[in-house]
Amino acid sequence: MLSLPARCLLRPPRLPLPAPPRRGSYGPGRRWFLSTPIFYVNGPPHIGHLYSALLADALHRHRGLLGPGPGRLATGTDEHGLKIQQAAAAAGTSPAELCDHVSGLFRDLFSRAAVSFTDFIRTTEPRHRRAVQCFWTALQGRGLLYKDFYEGWYCTPDECFLTQAQITERPDAQGHPCKVSLESGHQVHWTKEENYMFKLSEFQEPLRKWLQGNRHVISPEPFYQVVLQWLEEDLPDLSVSRERSRLQWGIPVPGDSTQTIYVWVDALVNYLTVAGYPDAHHAWWPAVHHVVGKDILKFHAIYWPALLMAVGLDPPEQIYVHSHWTVHGQKMSKSLGNVVDPVACFKQYTVDGFRYFLLRQGVPERDCDYYEEKVIKLVNSELADALGGLLNRCTAPSINPSGIYPHFSALCFRKGSDHMDVEASGRALAEDYELVASVDRLPLQVTDYFEHFQIYKALESVVACVRQTNGFFQRHAPWKLCRDNPAEKCWLDTVLHVTLECLRIYGILLQPVIPATADKLLSRLGIKPEERAFTDLTFLPRYHGKPCPFEGRRLGPDTGALFPRLETPRRRQLEIKGLRP
Ligand code: MSP
Repeated sequence: MLSLPARCLLRPPRLPLPAPPRRGSYGPGRRWFLSTPIFYVNGPPHIGHLYSALLADALHRHRGLLGPGPGRLATGTDEHGLKIQQAAAAAGTSPAELCDHVSGLFRDLFSRAAVSFTDFIRTTEPRHRRAVQCFWTALQGRGLLYKDFYEGWYCTPDECFLTQAQITERPDAQGHPCKVSLESGHQVHWTKEENYMFKLSEFQEPLRKWLQGNRHVISPEPFYQVVLQWLEEDLPDLSVSRERSRLQWGIPVPGDSTQTIYVWVDALVNYLTVAGYPDAHHAWWPAVHHVVGKDILKFHAIYWPALLMAVGLDPPEQIYVHSHWTVHGQKMSKSLGNVVDPVACFKQYTVDGFRYFLLRQGVPERDCDYYEEKVIKLVNSELADALGGLLNRCTAPSINPSGIYPHFSALCFRKGSDHMDVEASGRALAEDYELVASVDRLPLQVTDYFEHFQIYKALESVVACVRQTNGFFQRHAPWKLCRDNPAEKCWLDTVLHVTLECLRIYGILLQPVIPATADKLLSRLGIKPEERAFTDLTFLPRYHGKPCPFEGRRLGPDTGALFPRLETPRRRQLEIKGLRP
């Protein structure tokens, strides 16, 4: 699974063996195609949407560092359906105008957030209409659609049909009993109309076989189990169109102007549209890896693979599932007025500060909570103090007046498994060898975590190494060493060299998560853009008896603190002290 280039494999023998390779793994030269869900345009983006996009972006950037590709990252907006039709009517605008406006907000947000998408699809584009109609024709051609009277519950906010078992009764805002979806809590309505049905029930067994043969296709693992469990239950046929008289804002069924294609079929096909379907998708399909929230797992892990099998295409190679963000312990909702605007977060915490927070604190297996103090505390302690402080200390003119990447002395920092014995002649201590071992194994560890969709763990391991490096620096107190004494200078330079080498590795590894800060860090170290790939991750080559291209090189210009400390707003300080209600 870990296919790092040979130069990256330089590591101590104690490294635990990586897990065996599996379908969906990636490495240099491999083609990858990542996707985010496409976002509904009935409201502006919030931090949950941003999180879906950032996870995909971090994976995409990480793969780009492993090798030059080819790779793609697709995102976009889901613009059809009753929900959008109703939202436009409520806003007194046309669906097309609403879509243009909100789609623009998503696009701007992702550009501002440095989401490195290679395609931004809108389901209202002609290329997509063509793909959806072609897909529909393929389903029909294979005899997998039939017309029938559908009667049941429909949930417009979720754009889905629900069985009796999936609904419950709750009082509405006025206290009147109302039927809602058990899962989302959104209101449902009884619908009775003639629709096209897709023979989903015929795919229960093929879906089970696919999942059983690909145990890692859905990760994290608990979500894989959830899907298997769903497949133990009844899998009824799926209504895949709506009467055009009720839903005009959508793609018409080819050859039947009385029906509109169900918005979820329309939306799912976006992944094929961006891959070039119906003419040019083979180069990319099925190398697709979807990032999706847990609320849309059934659509991606059951309906979508079944629809793909139905037209003779392979199911996706990988489905990464994440949980949700709550705010002060509550679900985000317009009615509670607690929806968090990501652009306001960028202003408050900076783009990289907020990217770091979401990816470091977001654990895909479980819901995570957002609140202001948590972001400030985390970002200050890990980015401003630990990482920024370390860079500041080892590049300060008082400690490194020449402003160069200093030389490493193999006499001061002796190589060898018997380092305990050579301690007396060298100056490195047992903890220093532990640091070298930790940083040596870090690139593989980080890659393994990324590949297992555990970006938060990758960051945790980087931070642990940053702390270890701060310990190393503190322990040897280079500011106490005398430059005029040749023996001391040798050791002083070595301490600085090791610290800069650690920072170089952290800078390269952090690029997928905090691209601007990593760029600033690497530029300060004098590392050129073409020296920042995973092939450049050989840590401390001089310790391993190899030449170091950076030794003696001038450091980059000092452009100020790596990451400015964030201030708790005065309003909150007063609240915390109990001086404000
Ligand atoms: N349009 C569909 C997806 C179609 S994909 C073929 C949709 N859109 S959405 O705008 O409602 O959601 C998009 C993504 O945002 C989903 O992955 C969803 O899980 C995610 N999030 C929405 N609210 C969220 C949180 N509160 N927290 C984290 N992610 C959340 O579903």
